[in-house]
Amino acid sequence: MQPLQVKHYEWSGSQATLRKEPDLRKLTYFIACSIDGFIGDPSGDAQMMIPFVDEEFFEFLKTEYPETMPTHGRRAVGVDDLENKQYDTIIQGRASYDLALELGVTSPYAHMREYVASRSLKESPDPHVEIIAEDLVGRVRELKAEDSDFGIYLCGGSQLAGELIDEVDELVIKTYPIVLGSGMPMFGSGFAISEFTLGEVRTFKNGAVVRTYSRKR
Ligand SMILES: NC(=O)c1ccc[n+]([C@@H]2O[C@H](COP(=O)([O-])OP(=O)(O)OC[C@H]3O[C@@H](n4cnc5c(N)ncnc54)[C@H](OP(=O)(O)O)[C@@H]3O)[C@@H](O)[C@H]2O)c1
Repeated sequence: MQPLQVKHYEWSGSQATLRKEPDLRKLTYFIACSIDGFIGDPSGDAQMMIPFVDEEFFEFLKTEYPETMPTHGRRAVGVDDLENKQYDTIIQGRASYDLALELGVTSPYAHMREYVASRSLKESPDPHVEIIAEDLVGRVRELKAEDSDFGIYLCGGSQLAGELIDEVDELVIKTYPIVLGSGMPMFGSGFAISEFTLGEVRTFKNGAVVRTYSRKR
């Protein structure tokens, strides 16, 4: 077995570089979870994770993953002009998208191309948001085949990630130092072993850890 190439370091604010792949672009599941792997409480509510986005963690997100913050959230803190660093396309499940609709926001990631998987939404609430109702995997493969230096951000939630688990090329897992005991799993899928290779581990003063994994193909 090859030894892992793992870099352990504390976030120091250095600039990220774009990841360029010669072949298909990557689908990355970028997700926040508890130590025991839940992305929210049993209903999916992830509010308990918000306090861990403190000054240091926010600086990390702002510098390396600014596009993963919703447009309305970025605007509220005056950083809505940040350029995308990793992703230019987002895909989320309808239940996750509902959280924005409940706030009256129909295009929560207006700084990317937005796709929402749904069989129940008959038409998109926003011209910027495209609904994927059929052949989810085929559509994601088409997106991967597009010519772009940027990847595709799989936002969640659990059900969508479970449906797309075989398409996930990379994981960026933000683990906050809490145990929930039960909750919404990272992948709503059946039992199957998928192997990933650990790339980077970043630690933060508040106990948060961000791990990056790439899929072993
Ligand atoms: N911790 C985090 O970082 C994080 C990130 C994102 C979300 N979340 C949490 O995740 C929760 C939502 O997760 P969830 O698992 O309940 O729902 P979800 O995955 O966000 O959405 C599920 C919906 O997606 C649609 N869908 C799924 N598979 C599909 C397919 N093959 N084709 C077409 N449409 C498909 C269906 O919509 P229709 O019913 O309309 O057909 C389904 O009901 C939220 O509460 C949110 O807080 C947490």
